[in-house]
Amino acid sequence: MNKIAVLDFGSQYTQLIVRRVRELGVYAYIIPYDEVPSEKVGGIILSGSSFSIYDEGAPKPQDVIFDLGVPLLGICYGMDVIVERFGGAVTKASRREYGPAVVRVDVSDVLMSGGIDGTVVWMSHGDKVVELPPEFVNVAHTEYSEFAVIKHRTKPIYGIQFHPEVSHSECGLVVLDNFVKGVCELEPDWDMSGFLDESVVRIRKKVGEKRVLCAISGGVDSSVTAALLHRAIGDRLIPVFVNNGLLRKGEVEYVLDSFRKLGISVVYEDASLLFLGRLKGVVDPEDKRKIIGHTFIDVFKDVAGRFEDVEFLAQGTLYPDVIESASVKGPSDKIKSHHNVGGLPSELGFRLIEPLRELFKDEVRRLGRELGIDDSFLKRHPFPGPGLAIRVIGEVTEERLGVLRKADAILLEEVRRFGLYDAIWQAFAVLLPVNSVGVMGDKRTYENVVALRIVDSVDGMTADWSRVPYEMLSRISSRVINEVEGVNRVVFDISSKPPSTIEWE
Ligand code: XMP
Repeated sequence: MNKIAVLDFGSQYTQLIVRRVRELGVYAYIIPYDEVPSEKVGGIILSGSSFSIYDEGAPKPQDVIFDLGVPLLGICYGMDVIVERFGGAVTKASRREYGPAVVRVDVSDVLMSGGIDGTVVWMSHGDKVVELPPEFVNVAHTEYSEFAVIKHRTKPIYGIQFHPEVSHSECGLVVLDNFVKGVCELEPDWDMSGFLDESVVRIRKKVGEKRVLCAISGGVDSSVTAALLHRAIGDRLIPVFVNNGLLRKGEVEYVLDSFRKLGISVVYEDASLLFLGRLKGVVDPEDKRKIIGHTFIDVFKDVAGRFEDVEFLAQGTLYPDVIESASVKGPSDKIKSHHNVGGLPSELGFRLIEPLRELFKDEVRRLGRELGIDDSFLKRHPFPGPGLAIRVIGEVTEERLGVLRKADAILLEEVRRFGLYDAIWQAFAVLLPVNSVGVMGDKRTYENVVALRIVDSVDGMTADWSRVPYEMLSRISSRVINEVEGVNRVVFDISSKPPSTIEWE
Protein backbone atom coordinates (compact mmCIF):
# COMPACT_ATOMS: atom_id res chain seq x y z
CA MET A 1 0.00 0.00 0.00
CA ASN A 2 2.78 2.41 0.93
CA LYS A 3 4.11 2.48 -2.62
CA ILE A 4 3.90 4.56 -5.76
CA ALA A 5 3.67 2.90 -9.18
CA VAL A 6 5.02 4.85 -12.14
CA LEU A 7 3.42 4.03 -15.50
CA ASP A 8 6.16 4.26 -18.11
CA PHE A 9 5.07 5.79 -21.40
CA GLY A 10 8.69 5.84 -22.57
CA SER A 11 10.00 9.13 -21.19
CA GLN A 12 13.73 9.61 -20.68
CA TYR A 13 12.84 10.83 -17.18
CA THR A 14 10.82 7.84 -15.92
CA GLN A 15 13.66 6.46 -13.82
CA LEU A 16 14.27 9.88 -12.39
CA ILE A 17 10.67 10.09 -11.15
CA VAL A 18 11.17 6.81 -9.30
CA ARG A 19 14.44 7.95 -7.77
CA ARG A 20 12.96 11.22 -6.59
CA VAL A 21 10.00 9.54 -4.91
CA ARG A 22 12.37 7.10 -3.20
CA GLU A 23 14.44 10.08 -2.03
CA LEU A 24 11.30 11.19 -0.22
CA GLY A 25 11.33 7.89 1.68
CA VAL A 26 8.52 6.19 -0.22
CA TYR A 27 9.14 3.14 -2.39
CA ALA A 28 8.37 3.64 -6.08
CA TYR A 29 8.68 1.33 -9.06
CA ILE A 30 8.10 1.34 -12.80
CA ILE A 31 5.52 -0.70 -14.69
CA PRO A 32 4.81 -0.63 -18.44
CA TYR A 33 2.12 1.88 -19.45
CA ASP A 34 -0.42 -0.78 -20.35
CA GLU A 35 -0.22 -2.69 -17.08
CA VAL A 36 -2.12 -2.25 -13.84
CA PRO A 37 -0.28 -2.50 -10.50
CA SER A 38 -0.66 -6.07 -9.28
CA GLU A 39 -0.90 -4.93 -5.68
CA LYS A 40 -2.63 -2.08 -3.92
CA VAL A 41 -0.59 1.09 -4.29
CA GLY A 42 -0.95 4.48 -2.64
CA GLY A 43 -0.73 6.44 -5.88
CA ILE A 44 0.11 6.22 -9.57
CA ILE A 45 2.27 8.61 -11.58
CA LEU A 46 1.89 8.70 -15.37
CA SER A 47 5.24 9.54 -16.99
CA GLY A 48 6.01 11.67 -20.02
CA SER A 49 6.57 10.24 -23.49
CA SER A 50 8.22 11.01 -26.80
CA PHE A 51 4.79 10.48 -28.39
CA SER A 52 2.02 13.03 -28.82
CA ILE A 53 -1.33 11.91 -27.46
CA TYR A 54 -2.96 12.34 -30.91
CA ASP A 55 -0.27 10.25 -32.72
CA GLU A 56 -1.34 7.01 -34.27
CA GLY A 57 -0.28 4.24 -31.90
CA ALA A 58 0.19 6.65 -28.99
CA PRO A 59 0.49 4.62 -25.77
CA LYS A 60 -2.63 4.62 -23.60
CA PRO A 61 -3.12 3.10 -20.16
CA GLN A 62 -5.83 0.60 -19.32
CA ASP A 63 -8.98 2.47 -18.45
CA VAL A 64 -9.27 0.65 -15.13
CA ILE A 65 -6.51 2.77 -13.60
CA PHE A 66 -8.96 5.68 -13.49
CA ASP A 67 -11.37 3.60 -11.42
CA LEU A 68 -8.97 2.27 -8.80
CA GLY A 69 -9.73 5.19 -6.54
CA VAL A 70 -6.02 5.92 -5.95
CA PRO A 71 -4.53 9.37 -6.57
CA LEU A 72 -3.12 9.94 -10.06
CA LEU A 73 -0.51 12.42 -11.18
CA GLY A 74 0.10 12.84 -14.91
CA ILE A 75 3.36 14.52 -15.86
CA CYS A 76 3.60 16.18 -19.31
CA TYR A 77 2.35 13.44 -21.69
CA GLY A 78 0.78 11.81 -18.62
CA MET A 79 -1.28 14.97 -18.20
CA ASP A 80 -2.39 14.77 -21.84
CA VAL A 81 -3.50 11.18 -21.21
CA ILE A 82 -5.72 12.38 -18.37
CA VAL A 83 -7.06 15.34 -20.35
CA GLU A 84 -8.00 13.14 -23.29
CA ARG A 85 -9.57 10.49 -21.05
CA PHE A 86 -11.84 13.06 -19.36
CA GLY A 87 -12.91 14.80 -22.56
CA GLY A 88 -10.57 17.80 -22.87
CA ALA A 89 -8.41 18.68 -25.86
CA VAL A 90 -4.67 18.67 -26.59
CA THR A 91 -3.10 20.04 -29.76
CA LYS A 92 0.33 20.80 -31.11
CA ALA A 93 1.54 24.04 -29.55
CA SER A 94 2.32 26.90 -31.90
CA ARG A 95 5.61 27.20 -30.11
CA ARG A 96 7.51 24.39 -28.48
CA GLU A 97 8.34 25.14 -24.85
CA TYR A 98 11.66 23.81 -23.68
CA GLY A 99 13.54 25.11 -20.66
CA PRO A 100 12.76 27.31 -17.69
CA ALA A 101 9.40 28.97 -16.98
CA VAL A 102 8.01 30.70 -13.92
CA VAL A 103 4.99 28.98 -12.44
CA ARG A 104 2.10 31.06 -11.09
CA VAL A 105 -0.35 29.41 -8.72
CA ASP A 106 -3.96 30.55 -9.37
CA VAL A 107 -5.86 28.34 -6.95
CA SER A 108 -4.47 27.25 -3.62
CA ASP A 109 -4.08 23.48 -3.49
CA VAL A 110 -2.15 20.92 -1.48
CA LEU A 111 -0.13 19.90 -4.57
CA MET A 112 1.22 23.41 -5.04
CA SER A 113 1.68 24.40 -1.40
CA GLY A 114 5.00 25.19 0.24
CA GLY A 115 6.29 28.26 -1.60
CA ILE A 116 6.10 26.96 -5.17
CA ASP A 117 4.40 30.08 -6.54
CA GLY A 118 6.85 32.20 -8.54
CA THR A 119 9.60 29.57 -8.75
CA VAL A 120 11.27 28.25 -11.89
CA VAL A 121 10.00 24.99 -13.34
CA TRP A 122 11.36 22.99 -16.28
CA MET A 123 9.28 22.56 -19.42
CA SER A 124 9.83 20.14 -22.28
CA HIS A 125 6.78 19.82 -24.51
CA GLY A 126 5.54 20.43 -28.03
CA ASP A 127 1.82 19.89 -27.25
CA LYS A 128 -0.47 21.86 -25.05
CA VAL A 129 -3.83 21.49 -23.39
CA VAL A 130 -6.26 23.86 -25.12
CA GLU A 131 -9.46 22.79 -23.49
CA LEU A 132 -9.88 21.57 -19.94
CA PRO A 133 -12.12 18.55 -19.37
CA PRO A 134 -15.42 19.65 -17.80
CA GLU A 135 -14.68 18.09 -14.44
CA PHE A 136 -11.28 19.81 -14.10
CA VAL A 137 -10.09 23.16 -12.79
CA ASN A 138 -6.90 25.00 -13.52
CA VAL A 139 -4.50 25.35 -10.58
CA ALA A 140 -1.46 27.12 -12.07
CA HIS A 141 -0.13 28.68 -15.28
CA THR A 142 3.13 29.86 -16.84
CA GLU A 143 3.72 32.50 -19.49
CA TYR A 144 3.19 30.07 -22.37
CA SER A 145 1.08 27.39 -20.70
CA GLU A 146 -2.35 28.48 -19.62
CA PHE A 147 -2.88 25.09 -17.98
CA ALA A 148 0.39 24.26 -16.22
CA VAL A 149 -1.26 22.36 -13.35
CA ILE A 150 -4.80 21.00 -13.44
CA LYS A 151 -6.94 19.09 -11.01
CA HIS A 152 -10.15 17.07 -10.99
CA ARG A 153 -12.92 18.84 -9.07
CA THR A 154 -13.77 15.92 -6.82
CA LYS A 155 -11.17 13.19 -7.29
CA PRO A 156 -7.45 13.21 -6.43
CA ILE A 157 -6.40 13.34 -10.09
CA TYR A 158 -3.79 15.89 -11.22
CA GLY A 159 -1.94 16.83 -14.37
CA ILE A 160 1.21 18.92 -14.54
CA GLN A 161 2.81 20.23 -17.68
CA PHE A 162 6.30 20.76 -16.28
CA HIS A 163 8.79 18.16 -15.02
CA PRO A 164 9.02 18.16 -11.21
CA GLU A 165 11.52 15.28 -11.31
CA VAL A 166 14.36 17.23 -12.96
CA SER A 167 16.68 19.23 -10.76
CA HIS A 168 16.13 22.40 -12.83
CA SER A 169 12.60 22.60 -11.41
CA GLU A 170 13.49 24.53 -8.25
CA CYS A 171 10.60 23.21 -6.19
CA GLY A 172 10.10 19.96 -8.11
CA LEU A 173 10.79 17.81 -5.08
CA VAL A 174 8.29 19.85 -3.06
CA VAL A 175 5.61 19.13 -5.70
CA LEU A 176 6.36 15.41 -5.58
CA ASP A 177 6.46 15.50 -1.79
CA ASN A 178 3.07 17.21 -1.78
CA PHE A 179 1.67 14.53 -4.06
CA VAL A 180 3.14 11.56 -2.21
CA LYS A 181 2.59 12.71 1.36
CA GLY A 182 -0.16 15.32 0.97
CA VAL A 183 -2.41 13.87 -1.73
CA CYS A 184 -1.64 10.14 -1.39
CA GLU A 185 -1.14 10.49 2.38
CA LEU A 186 1.76 8.05 2.41
CA GLU A 187 4.18 7.81 5.33
CA PRO A 188 7.88 7.62 4.46
CA ASP A 189 9.12 4.14 5.31
CA TRP A 190 11.66 3.32 2.61
CA ASP A 191 15.22 3.29 3.85
CA MET A 192 18.17 0.98 3.48
CA SER A 193 18.07 -0.53 6.94
CA GLY A 194 14.43 -1.53 6.35
CA PHE A 195 15.31 -2.87 2.92
CA LEU A 196 18.15 -4.87 4.44
CA ASP A 197 15.89 -6.48 7.05
CA GLU A 198 13.20 -7.30 4.50
CA SER A 199 15.74 -8.71 2.05
CA VAL A 200 17.21 -11.00 4.67
CA VAL A 201 13.76 -12.45 5.38
CA ARG A 202 12.97 -12.77 1.66
CA ILE A 203 16.29 -14.47 0.85
CA ARG A 204 15.97 -16.96 3.71
CA LYS A 205 12.49 -17.87 2.56
CA LYS A 206 13.54 -18.33 -1.04
CA VAL A 207 16.78 -20.21 -0.42
CA GLY A 208 15.61 -22.48 2.40
CA GLU A 209 18.38 -24.91 3.30
CA LYS A 210 20.04 -24.79 -0.12
CA ARG A 211 23.33 -23.11 -1.04
CA VAL A 212 24.01 -20.12 -3.25
CA LEU A 213 26.97 -19.49 -5.52
CA CYS A 214 28.03 -15.93 -6.19
CA ALA A 215 30.81 -14.79 -8.50
CA ILE A 216 32.52 -11.75 -7.05
CA SER A 217 34.45 -9.49 -9.38
CA GLY A 218 35.80 -7.00 -6.86
CA GLY A 219 33.22 -4.48 -8.06
CA VAL A 220 30.60 -2.83 -5.88
CA ASP A 221 27.49 -4.68 -7.11
CA SER A 222 28.73 -8.24 -6.77
CA SER A 223 30.37 -7.45 -3.42
CA VAL A 224 27.20 -5.97 -1.93
CA THR A 225 25.22 -8.92 -3.30
CA ALA A 226 27.59 -11.33 -1.59
CA ALA A 227 27.59 -9.41 1.69
CA LEU A 228 23.79 -9.27 1.73
CA LEU A 229 23.47 -12.99 1.04
CA HIS A 230 26.03 -13.76 3.67
CA ARG A 231 24.03 -11.74 6.18
CA ALA A 232 20.96 -13.82 5.26
CA ILE A 233 22.33 -17.36 4.91
CA GLY A 234 25.85 -17.24 6.37
CA ASP A 235 28.19 -19.94 5.15
CA ARG A 236 25.63 -21.42 2.81
CA LEU A 237 26.77 -18.64 0.50
CA ILE A 238 29.74 -19.67 -1.62
CA PRO A 239 31.42 -16.54 -2.97
CA VAL A 240 33.85 -17.32 -5.78
CA PHE A 241 36.59 -14.95 -6.84
CA VAL A 242 38.28 -15.96 -10.09
CA ASN A 243 41.67 -14.50 -10.83
CA ASN A 244 41.79 -14.28 -14.62
CA GLY A 245 45.33 -12.94 -14.63
CA LEU A 246 43.99 -9.66 -15.97
CA LEU A 247 43.55 -7.82 -12.69
CA ARG A 248 45.20 -4.63 -11.50
CA LYS A 249 48.19 -4.50 -9.20
CA GLY A 250 47.28 -5.50 -5.65
CA GLU A 251 43.68 -6.34 -6.60
CA VAL A 252 43.60 -9.95 -5.39
CA GLU A 253 44.97 -9.03 -1.96
CA TYR A 254 42.65 -6.03 -1.68
CA VAL A 255 39.49 -7.97 -2.54
CA LEU A 256 40.32 -10.96 -0.35
CA ASP A 257 41.27 -8.68 2.51
CA SER A 258 38.03 -6.68 2.20
CA PHE A 259 35.97 -9.86 2.44
CA ARG A 260 38.08 -11.15 5.31
CA LYS A 261 37.26 -7.98 7.21
CA LEU A 262 33.56 -8.70 6.66
CA GLY A 263 34.01 -12.19 8.06
CA ILE A 264 33.24 -13.80 4.69
CA SER A 265 35.53 -16.54 3.45
CA VAL A 266 35.93 -16.53 -0.29
CA VAL A 267 36.72 -19.41 -2.62
CA TYR A 268 39.71 -18.06 -4.53
CA GLU A 269 40.46 -19.66 -7.88
CA ASP A 270 43.66 -18.68 -9.64
CA ALA A 271 42.97 -19.40 -13.30
CA SER A 272 45.40 -16.86 -14.72
CA LEU A 273 47.46 -19.39 -16.65
CA LEU A 274 44.37 -20.79 -18.35
CA PHE A 275 43.13 -17.33 -19.38
CA LEU A 276 46.54 -16.10 -20.57
CA GLY A 277 47.12 -19.37 -22.44
CA ARG A 278 43.87 -18.97 -24.35
CA LEU A 279 44.65 -15.32 -25.11
CA LYS A 280 48.04 -16.09 -26.60
CA GLY A 281 48.41 -14.52 -30.04
CA VAL A 282 44.94 -12.93 -29.93
CA VAL A 283 44.76 -9.25 -30.90
CA ASP A 284 41.16 -8.64 -31.99
CA PRO A 285 39.19 -6.91 -29.19
CA GLU A 286 35.98 -8.89 -29.77
CA ASP A 287 37.89 -12.17 -29.85
CA LYS A 288 39.54 -11.25 -26.56
CA ARG A 289 36.18 -10.52 -24.94
CA LYS A 290 34.63 -13.76 -26.22
CA ILE A 291 37.54 -15.91 -25.11
CA ILE A 292 37.52 -14.33 -21.66
CA GLY A 293 33.73 -14.75 -21.33
CA HIS A 294 33.82 -18.42 -22.33
CA THR A 295 36.82 -19.18 -20.17
CA PHE A 296 35.08 -17.60 -17.20
CA ILE A 297 32.10 -19.89 -17.71
CA ASP A 298 34.38 -22.94 -17.95
CA VAL A 299 36.19 -22.03 -14.74
CA PHE A 300 33.00 -21.20 -12.92
CA LYS A 301 31.40 -24.50 -13.96
CA ASP A 302 34.43 -26.32 -12.69
CA VAL A 303 34.30 -24.57 -9.30
CA ALA A 304 30.52 -25.05 -9.04
CA GLY A 305 30.95 -28.79 -9.62
CA ARG A 306 32.92 -29.07 -6.37
CA PHE A 307 29.96 -28.15 -4.19
CA GLU A 308 26.79 -30.04 -3.34
CA ASP A 309 23.32 -28.69 -2.69
CA VAL A 310 23.89 -25.58 -4.76
CA GLU A 311 20.56 -24.52 -6.17
CA PHE A 312 21.00 -20.80 -6.76
CA LEU A 313 23.34 -18.47 -8.56
CA ALA A 314 23.37 -14.88 -7.25
CA GLN A 315 23.89 -11.91 -9.53
CA GLY A 316 24.25 -8.20 -8.78
CA THR A 317 21.69 -7.08 -11.35
CA LEU A 318 20.48 -3.53 -10.65
CA TYR A 319 17.14 -1.87 -11.30
CA PRO A 320 18.17 0.01 -14.46
CA ASP A 321 19.20 -3.34 -16.03
CA VAL A 322 15.86 -4.86 -15.09
CA ILE A 323 13.93 -1.99 -16.61
CA GLU A 324 16.05 -2.15 -19.73
CA SER A 325 15.33 -5.85 -20.03
CA ALA A 326 11.65 -5.96 -19.34
CA SER A 327 10.03 -2.57 -19.59
CA VAL A 328 9.23 -0.16 -22.37
CA LYS A 329 11.90 1.97 -23.96
CA GLY A 330 9.49 3.45 -26.41
CA PRO A 331 6.07 1.87 -26.64
CA SER A 332 6.96 0.27 -29.97
CA ASP A 333 10.26 -1.08 -28.71
CA LYS A 334 9.62 -3.87 -26.21
CA ILE A 335 11.85 -6.30 -24.38
CA LYS A 336 15.59 -6.15 -24.83
CA SER A 337 17.61 -8.76 -23.06
CA HIS A 338 20.50 -7.73 -20.86
CA HIS A 339 23.80 -9.53 -20.57
CA ASN A 340 23.40 -9.95 -16.81
CA VAL A 341 20.19 -11.88 -17.15
CA GLY A 342 21.13 -14.42 -19.79
CA GLY A 343 23.14 -17.57 -20.22
CA LEU A 344 25.04 -18.76 -17.23
CA PRO A 345 22.38 -19.81 -14.68
CA SER A 346 20.33 -21.95 -17.04
CA GLU A 347 23.43 -23.50 -18.56
CA LEU A 348 24.52 -24.52 -15.09
CA GLY A 349 21.05 -25.62 -14.07
CA PHE A 350 20.78 -22.99 -11.35
CA ARG A 351 17.96 -20.75 -10.31
CA LEU A 352 18.78 -17.09 -10.33
CA ILE A 353 18.70 -14.88 -7.27
CA GLU A 354 19.11 -11.12 -7.75
CA PRO A 355 18.68 -9.35 -4.41
CA LEU A 356 19.61 -5.89 -5.76
CA ARG A 357 17.19 -5.87 -8.67
CA GLU A 358 15.05 -3.17 -7.10
CA LEU A 359 17.92 -0.79 -6.38
CA PHE A 360 19.68 2.07 -8.11
CA LYS A 361 23.46 2.35 -7.87
CA ASP A 362 23.48 4.98 -5.13
CA GLU A 363 21.07 2.83 -3.11
CA VAL A 364 23.42 -0.15 -3.51
CA ARG A 365 26.20 1.94 -2.01
CA ARG A 366 23.97 2.88 0.91
CA LEU A 367 23.05 -0.78 1.41
CA GLY A 368 26.75 -1.65 1.32
CA ARG A 369 27.34 0.86 4.10
CA GLU A 370 24.55 -0.73 6.16
CA LEU A 371 26.30 -4.07 5.68
CA GLY A 372 29.55 -2.65 7.04
CA ILE A 373 31.48 -2.48 3.77
CA ASP A 374 34.21 0.15 3.78
CA ASP A 375 33.34 3.44 2.12
CA SER A 376 36.51 3.41 0.04
CA PHE A 377 35.47 0.02 -1.36
CA LEU A 378 31.98 1.28 -2.21
CA LYS A 379 33.41 4.24 -4.10
CA ARG A 380 35.65 2.18 -6.36
CA HIS A 381 35.76 3.10 -10.02
CA PRO A 382 34.11 0.64 -12.43
CA PHE A 383 36.42 -1.99 -13.88
CA PRO A 384 35.52 -3.98 -17.00
CA GLY A 385 34.94 -7.73 -16.82
CA PRO A 386 37.63 -8.48 -19.44
CA GLY A 387 40.05 -6.55 -17.24
CA LEU A 388 43.44 -5.40 -18.43
CA ALA A 389 43.15 -7.53 -21.59
CA ILE A 390 41.24 -4.68 -23.23
CA ARG A 391 43.79 -2.14 -21.98
CA VAL A 392 46.80 -3.95 -23.37
CA ILE A 393 46.18 -3.09 -26.99
CA GLY A 394 47.40 -5.90 -29.24
CA GLU A 395 48.61 -9.20 -27.83
CA VAL A 396 48.21 -9.76 -24.10
CA THR A 397 51.36 -11.18 -22.55
CA GLU A 398 52.49 -11.48 -18.96
CA GLU A 399 55.28 -9.03 -19.68
CA ARG A 400 53.02 -6.37 -21.21
CA LEU A 401 50.51 -6.83 -18.39
CA GLY A 402 53.34 -6.21 -15.94
CA VAL A 403 54.25 -2.93 -17.63
CA LEU A 404 50.64 -1.78 -17.67
CA ARG A 405 50.04 -2.75 -14.01
CA LYS A 406 52.94 -0.60 -12.84
CA ALA A 407 51.91 2.42 -14.90
CA ASP A 408 48.27 2.05 -13.84
CA ALA A 409 49.19 1.85 -10.16
CA ILE A 410 51.21 5.07 -10.41
CA LEU A 411 48.33 6.83 -12.16
CA LEU A 412 45.85 5.79 -9.44
CA GLU A 413 48.26 6.67 -6.66
CA GLU A 414 48.66 10.21 -8.00
CA VAL A 415 44.95 10.68 -8.68
CA ARG A 416 44.34 9.78 -5.03
CA ARG A 417 47.21 11.97 -3.82
CA PHE A 418 45.66 14.94 -5.64
CA GLY A 419 42.33 14.15 -3.95
CA LEU A 420 40.55 13.54 -7.26
CA TYR A 421 39.64 9.85 -7.07
CA ASP A 422 36.08 10.35 -5.84
CA ALA A 423 35.43 13.27 -8.20
CA ILE A 424 36.11 11.37 -11.41
CA TRP A 425 34.36 8.43 -13.01
CA GLN A 426 37.37 6.39 -14.07
CA ALA A 427 41.12 6.73 -14.36
CA PHE A 428 43.33 4.09 -15.93
CA ALA A 429 46.34 3.49 -18.12
CA VAL A 430 46.39 1.85 -21.54
CA LEU A 431 49.44 0.20 -23.08
CA LEU A 432 49.69 0.95 -26.78
CA PRO A 433 51.09 -1.44 -29.39
CA VAL A 434 53.64 1.07 -30.64
CA ASN A 435 57.19 1.88 -29.68
CA SER A 436 58.57 5.39 -29.83
CA VAL A 437 62.05 6.81 -29.86
CA GLY A 438 63.42 8.51 -26.77
CA VAL A 439 66.65 9.43 -25.16
CA MET A 440 67.65 8.41 -21.65
CA GLY A 441 71.03 9.50 -20.38
CA ASP A 442 73.08 9.52 -23.57
CA LYS A 443 71.34 6.54 -25.00
CA ARG A 444 68.69 6.25 -27.64
CA THR A 445 65.66 4.23 -26.49
CA TYR A 446 62.87 2.61 -28.48
CA GLU A 447 60.14 1.71 -26.04
CA ASN A 448 56.44 1.52 -25.14
CA VAL A 449 53.88 4.32 -25.09
CA VAL A 450 51.35 4.53 -22.26
CA ALA A 451 48.10 6.47 -22.66
CA LEU A 452 46.29 7.93 -19.65
CA ARG A 453 42.49 7.82 -19.72
CA ILE A 454 40.76 9.97 -17.07
CA VAL A 455 37.07 10.68 -17.61
CA ASP A 456 34.04 12.31 -16.03
CA SER A 457 30.68 10.65 -16.48
CA VAL A 458 27.36 10.18 -14.73
CA ASP A 459 26.50 6.68 -15.90
CA GLY A 460 29.20 5.59 -18.34
CA MET A 461 26.87 6.12 -21.30
CA THR A 462 28.45 9.46 -22.19
CA ALA A 463 31.74 10.80 -20.91
CA ASP A 464 34.25 13.57 -21.31
CA TRP A 465 37.94 13.71 -20.47
CA SER A 466 38.57 15.24 -17.06
CA ARG A 467 40.18 18.65 -16.94
CA VAL A 468 42.68 17.49 -14.35
CA PRO A 469 45.58 19.71 -13.20
CA TYR A 470 48.65 19.83 -15.45
CA GLU A 471 50.86 19.28 -12.40
CA MET A 472 49.20 15.93 -11.83
CA LEU A 473 49.65 14.85 -15.45
CA SER A 474 53.22 16.00 -15.38
CA ARG A 475 53.94 14.06 -12.22
CA ILE A 476 52.30 10.89 -13.54
CA SER A 477 54.25 11.20 -16.78
CA SER A 478 57.63 11.60 -15.17
CA ARG A 479 56.99 8.90 -12.60
CA VAL A 480 55.80 6.39 -15.21
CA ILE A 481 58.76 7.06 -17.50
CA ASN A 482 61.26 6.94 -14.64
CA GLU A 483 59.83 4.07 -12.67
CA VAL A 484 58.34 1.71 -15.26
CA GLU A 485 60.97 -0.07 -17.23
CA GLY A 486 60.17 -0.25 -20.92
CA VAL A 487 58.14 2.98 -21.16
CA ASN A 488 59.62 6.17 -22.61
CA ARG A 489 56.49 8.15 -23.53
CA VAL A 490 53.14 9.03 -21.88
CA VAL A 491 50.19 10.60 -23.72
CA PHE A 492 46.85 11.90 -22.42
CA ASP A 493 43.61 10.83 -24.13
CA ILE A 494 41.38 13.86 -24.80
CA SER A 495 38.48 12.13 -26.56
CA SER A 496 34.88 12.29 -25.44
CA LYS A 497 32.25 9.53 -25.59
CA PRO A 498 30.64 9.61 -28.09
CA PRO A 499 32.23 9.37 -30.59
CA SER A 500 35.00 7.52 -28.74
CA THR A 501 34.35 5.02 -25.96
CA ILE A 502 35.79 5.07 -22.46
CA GLU A 503 37.81 1.88 -22.94
CA TRP A 504 40.09 1.59 -25.95
CA GLU A 505 38.85 -1.85 -26.99
P1 XMP B 1 32.81 1.97 -22.92
O1 XMP B 1 34.22 1.58 -23.25
O2 XMP B 1 31.79 1.11 -23.59
O3 XMP B 1 32.64 1.70 -21.36
O4 XMP B 1 32.57 3.43 -23.13
C1 XMP B 1 31.58 2.15 -20.58
C2 XMP B 1 31.77 1.65 -19.16
O5 XMP B 1 31.62 0.23 -19.13
C3 XMP B 1 32.82 -0.40 -18.69
N1 XMP B 1 32.99 -1.59 -19.54
C4 XMP B 1 32.69 -2.84 -19.16
N2 XMP B 1 32.23 -3.32 -17.99
N3 XMP B 1 32.27 -5.52 -18.88
C5 XMP B 1 32.04 -4.66 -17.85
O6 XMP B 1 31.64 -5.11 -16.77
C6 XMP B 1 32.73 -5.12 -20.08
O7 XMP B 1 32.94 -5.91 -20.99
C7 XMP B 1 32.95 -3.70 -20.22
N4 XMP B 1 33.39 -2.93 -21.25
C8 XMP B 1 33.40 -1.64 -20.80
C9 XMP B 1 33.91 0.64 -18.88
O8 XMP B 1 35.00 0.43 -18.00
C10 XMP B 1 33.16 1.92 -18.61
O9 XMP B 1 33.02 2.16 -17.22
